[in-house]
Amino acid sequence: MIKVDISNVWGQIALPDLLAMEQEVASAHATLADGTGAGNDFLGWQNLPVREATEEITRIQRAAAKIRSDSDVFVVIGIGGSYLGPRAAIELLQGPNHNIGKGKGNPQVFFAGNGLSTRHFNELTRLLEDKDFSIAIISKSGTTTEPAIATRALRWMLERKYGTDGAKGRIYAITDPCKGALRQMATEEGWETFVIPPNVGGRFSVLTPVGLLPLAVAGVNIMDMMNGAMDAKESYDLRSFENPVWQYAAVRNLLYRSGKAMEIFESFEPGFKMFGGWWQQLFGESEGKDGKGIFPVTAELTADLHSLGQMIQQGERNIFETMVRFDAPAQTYTIGSDWKNLDGLNYLAGKTLDFVDEKAYLGTLAAHVDGGVPVITMDCGELSDRKVGEMFYFLELCCGVSAYILGVNPFNQPGVELYKRNMFHLLGKPGYEN
Ligand code: PA5
Repeated sequence: MIKVDISNVWGQIALPDLLAMEQEVASAHATLADGTGAGNDFLGWQNLPVREATEEITRIQRAAAKIRSDSDVFVVIGIGGSYLGPRAAIELLQGPNHNIGKGKGNPQVFFAGNGLSTRHFNELTRLLEDKDFSIAIISKSGTTTEPAIATRALRWMLERKYGTDGAKGRIYAITDPCKGALRQMATEEGWETFVIPPNVGGRFSVLTPVGLLPLAVAGVNIMDMMNGAMDAKESYDLRSFENPVWQYAAVRNLLYRSGKAMEIFESFEPGFKMFGGWWQQLFGESEGKDGKGIFPVTAELTADLHSLGQMIQQGERNIFETMVRFDAPAQTYTIGSDWKNLDGLNYLAGKTLDFVDEKAYLGTLAAHVDGGVPVITMDCGELSDRKVGEMFYFLELCCGVSAYILGVNPFNQPGVELYKRNMFHLLGKPGYEN
């Protein structure tokens, strides 16, 4: 189970205030579980975890095995909820440099269609020129501009390389089961497709083919991940303050009410950065509405202590932090002894890097708490495929409960839709003249 430690928030909020929230938290959890709240047509994510592979998961595993054997590179096209989840899990499990040394048999995984940068696009197409590659196009609506532009270009590249028929076997579409331009295109062109269930929103879709296909191609055991998510679904249904979901959801709302309007979600693992990005979208898009919401920020420690550290320690006191911890890996690194000791580091000789990391964590925690920044610690234990599945479901549940406590609909994103519509209008898309 993920352990949430709230012992470092008591300088800012009081235990009786937390206990007084019991009814509120219980009711938010029940609203979510019973499907009686706002946005209840988007609760399908609660039914995604499974113990045994479904027919669709088996098909995903088959497609992934083919891609692994015939591609040097797999390009995942998508943006927002149709991209952050798989990238978060791959980087957390395999590190930010996961593509180094990979090729056919264990392909590199790159992401495209998550922006409009010409430089990034040119770099990717240059890289693909002399490589065997396949693509997955992920878009629930099937009409988002960024992935649509990347799709058109990469699909043509594939057709030039392998011919129309050859390209067909290298294009996978993940989209709505019935509607949208991507569904129509995939049907017409004969591409293999996987479904994003209509009752699962983008930011809650990582346990659908959106996450599962790219992760399986990257070599992640997706059934271990699903089992981790199922563990979470079963364990975190507990209706009491012993439930870490309750602790996290209640404390962050109490902190918000006491003026802490910004949360920094951080870890001492560089591979965590994109996971922080996934969390940022999950909580930001779910809670940031009706003039309310905690602003979600992510940071990488210790690197960002050398950039954000000053602000956290002594800037405006409107911040709280959530530090995510993992067990040390089995393979350790021991700091060596240097007879000259010109760097003065011999006092650490014989100590492991993890020992130093642990002290950095404790030192940072004490300094920030002293500086008036409440810190929640989330201890996730051993980092594994199964654990990442548990973390995804756990945080989705926390988000739903937290947003209902805040009093907003966690499952819509009217602000994102507005930007998309404005862009269509400015680009002159037919139908968006006004
Ligand atoms: O969470 C969301 O709904 C958004 O971030 C979408 O996932 C994102 O805008 C991409 O949309 P689509 O999958 O329709 O292309």
